[in-house]
Amino acid sequence: MIISSLTVIIICGLVATLVGTRLIGTGIIRQAQDKVRIDLNSAREIYRQEGEDLKDKVRLSALRFFIKDALLKNDLGVLTEELAKIRKAESFDILTLTDSSGRVLIRTRNPLVSGDSQANDDLVSRVLSSEQAVVAAVIVQAEELRKEGADLAEQACIDFIPTPKAKPTQEVRQTSGMMMKAGAPIHGYDGSLLGILYAGKLINRNYKIVDKVKDTVYQAVKYKGKDIGTATIFQGDLRISTNVMRQDGTRAIGTRVSEEVYEQVLVKGLPWIDRAFVVNNWYIAAYEPIRDLKDEIIGILYVGILEEKFMDMRNKTTAIFLGIALAGMILALIVSSFLAKGILKPIRQLIIASHQWADGNLDYRVEATQRDEIAELAETFNIMASSLKERDERLKEYTQQQIMKSERLATLGQLAAGVAHEINNPLGAILMYSHLSLEETQIEDPRRKNLEKVAAEATRCKNIVRGLLDFARQSEPNVEEADVNEILKRTLSVLQNQAQFQNITIITKFGASLPKAMMDCGQIQQVFTNIILNSAEAIEGQGEVTIVTRMAESGRSIEIEFTDTGCGISRDNLEKIFDPFFTTKEVGRGTGLGLAVSYGIIARHKGSIEVNSSPGKGTTFIVRFPLKEEV
Ligand SMILES: Nc1ncnc2c1ncn2[C@@H]1O[C@H](COP(=O)(O)OP(=O)(O)OP(=O)(O)O)[C@@H](O)[C@H]1O
Ligand SMILES: [Mg+2]
Repeated sequence: MIISSLTVIIICGLVATLVGTRLIGTGIIRQAQDKVRIDLNSAREIYRQEGEDLKDKVRLSALRFFIKDALLKNDLGVLTEELAKIRKAESFDILTLTDSSGRVLIRTRNPLVSGDSQANDDLVSRVLSSEQAVVAAVIVQAEELRKEGADLAEQACIDFIPTPKAKPTQEVRQTSGMMMKAGAPIHGYDGSLLGILYAGKLINRNYKIVDKVKDTVYQAVKYKGKDIGTATIFQGDLRISTNVMRQDGTRAIGTRVSEEVYEQVLVKGLPWIDRAFVVNNWYIAAYEPIRDLKDEIIGILYVGILEEKFMDMRNKTTAIFLGIALAGMILALIVSSFLAKGILKPIRQLIIASHQWADGNLDYRVEATQRDEIAELAETFNIMASSLKERDERLKEYTQQQIMKSERLATLGQLAAGVAHEINNPLGAILMYSHLSLEETQIEDPRRKNLEKVAAEATRCKNIVRGLLDFARQSEPNVEEADVNEILKRTLSVLQNQAQFQNITIITKFGASLPKAMMDCGQIQQVFTNIILNSAEAIEGQGEVTIVTRMAESGRSIEIEFTDTGCGISRDNLEKIFDPFFTTKEVGRGTGLGLAVSYGIIARHKGSIEVNSSPGKGTTFIVRFPLKEEV
């Protein structure tokens, strides 16, 4: 019992722990992914805000009067200086003025190079055609960068750093750059387009946006000396602006995104949120594409949270959970073993008691210490032991009586046989001489009457003596295979015609296909005759005699049951009816030998006879004979 309850507890505990830790693990990771998705939204907003900011500044600059005036007067000398001031003040990387056809008038960063047409530039042509301020991230080729300034081209130029898992490439260097570029139209007083002003900030090696994301979203929190959150802008798959650090503490410019992310974000144009190995740490990362004016994908915006923190959190929570589960299990084990002991102790007592009873010690009693179902069971056990003892005693008493009775009958039998034997010879002589004397006596002789009486009484004595000898007969019955039903039928056919049975109904319920028994048919018929005659004599007036034959419950003997509706037998007489000469019938009607003789016959057949009677209602005799194979 203890073992099975322990097994259940341990299995349940283990399953709960396993499922629990799994749920905690996936729950924490899912939470981290949700967070990084929100962080990516924030990063996108900061990036967009940066663009809007640039656009507003360019738009406001384009509205300034001195630019219009200078353009209208074609006085570019002063303008060059003023625009250069604006570029510095607003910290634009480039600020360029074109005429209404897109030809460069002033390149503030590199005033020496001008006169070229920017009309083919996507952004410039969009501003020229829409006459609206426009902002977008664009890729600027190396030669264009060089026009703006050799230093700018140098800032954009990034050597590839071999990155495991990145998409293999032949290239070793990126010379173009990604630029946040905004342009705005300059209108004359009559509303006509005088030219456009465009400005740009090179993103390559410019960490303003990514650091702003880190500071705003992650508040520059560190975990174990590492930034908890990082942000990156990729040009294509190349890190051009990032705060992901390399082992040597420098920014991981030049490393590339994994091929997996490349396929998902750059090729398919879908966001990618999962754990990713970034440079040298695992991050829960989110990537989404950056598109240019024509909606073409030119790069990736990335944010990532250090996975280590979540892993530690998961491990810590799992450890706490495990601790609680283990403590729960131990507690359950202790409680269940206490409970089991509480139940097992009284059960053990019951087992000891049942062993005691089995060994015959029916005085043994179970002591109940508590008031519960087990105590009730113990009480029931005690009651059972008491009634067993009582039954035992009654059985002993009955057996004793039976033994005494059969001993008494045996003694009586011996005595009767001795007396009968002794009387038989003189009785024979009396009979013989009385008959001889009768033959010699004349019919009219007055002594003849007395002699006849002597002969009749002597004959009666002879019959009694024969009965006595029958009762005490020691010889074995002459047995053969016989059908009890047949013997009964034969007995009834002789009896039924007699006057005594006129008012008596005989009901027979003979069991079908009863096995045969070994018996002396003559003797058994004598037994049945006596029992049925006794019944008939016990019935005054109308009555019934029911005869049933069947297999005994034990299956080892045949039972014949005779029930009558006669006067019944009183309790006192019940003990004596098998005694020889016990009769309640008037002198001359019964000798009292019928049942005594029957008893002897049945005993010699190894059978038994039993009587139950309720005075005034009737009597039942049950005779049992063992089956052939049981003899
Ligand atoms: N079915 C019965 N109903 C009532 N009393 C019975 C019944 N069978 C036997 N007895 C009682 O048992 C006594 C003994 O019966 P038993 O057959 O031995 O002798 P009997 O019938 O008196 O005389 P006998 O059988 O010699 O003519 C009877 O006198 C009677 O009192
Ligand atoms: Mg009789």
